[in-house]
Amino acid sequence: MKKTVICPGSFDPVTLGHLDIITRASRMFDKVKVAVLINSAKTPCFSIEERMELLREATRGLENVEIVSFEGLLANYCREQKVHAIVKGLRAVSDFEYEFQMAITNKKLNPELETIFLTADSDSMYLSSSMVREIGRMGGDIRNFVPACVHDRIVSRLKSL
Ligand code: PNS
Repeated sequence: MKKTVICPGSFDPVTLGHLDIITRASRMFDKVKVAVLINSAKTPCFSIEERMELLREATRGLENVEIVSFEGLLANYCREQKVHAIVKGLRAVSDFEYEFQMAITNKKLNPELETIFLTADSDSMYLSSSMVREIGRMGGDIRNFVPACVHDRIVSRLKSL
């Protein structure tokens, strides 16, 4: 059986840290579905279409990666998609409590679902989308934080905010 995993997230916007985890997952599994959360309770900087388009562009060279979106509980989405594993990046210790809580809760909601953590690359240890948004909005250089192919689009969008 082919092994499919889901890499979920807000991706507002995609960072080099996300791309590192997606790339490594694509080498380990047959298929990687990058699932972008549609969260009507929050107003993201980048629309769902923009976030998906940036991810499509950033993962263009990875043939077994597909960009999808989901609404509601991740555990239910995985059940609907018949996917039994989530792959997430784990950065500094500060991530651990929250990620552990989510992994355990998701397993309670869907006992067939495993969460696999890949350790973040040392360069991405303290990198987050919120930091990219803040630096970009204030005119700082985000070249080291986002995929080169989507850098200009992210910069011009953040400047327009
Ligand atoms: O990139 P993020 O914001 O850290 O990703 C968080 C995400 C999207 C993985 C998480 O918020 C999620 O799965 N949300 C869907 C709603 C849900 O299932 N909530 C219960 C999780 S325990």
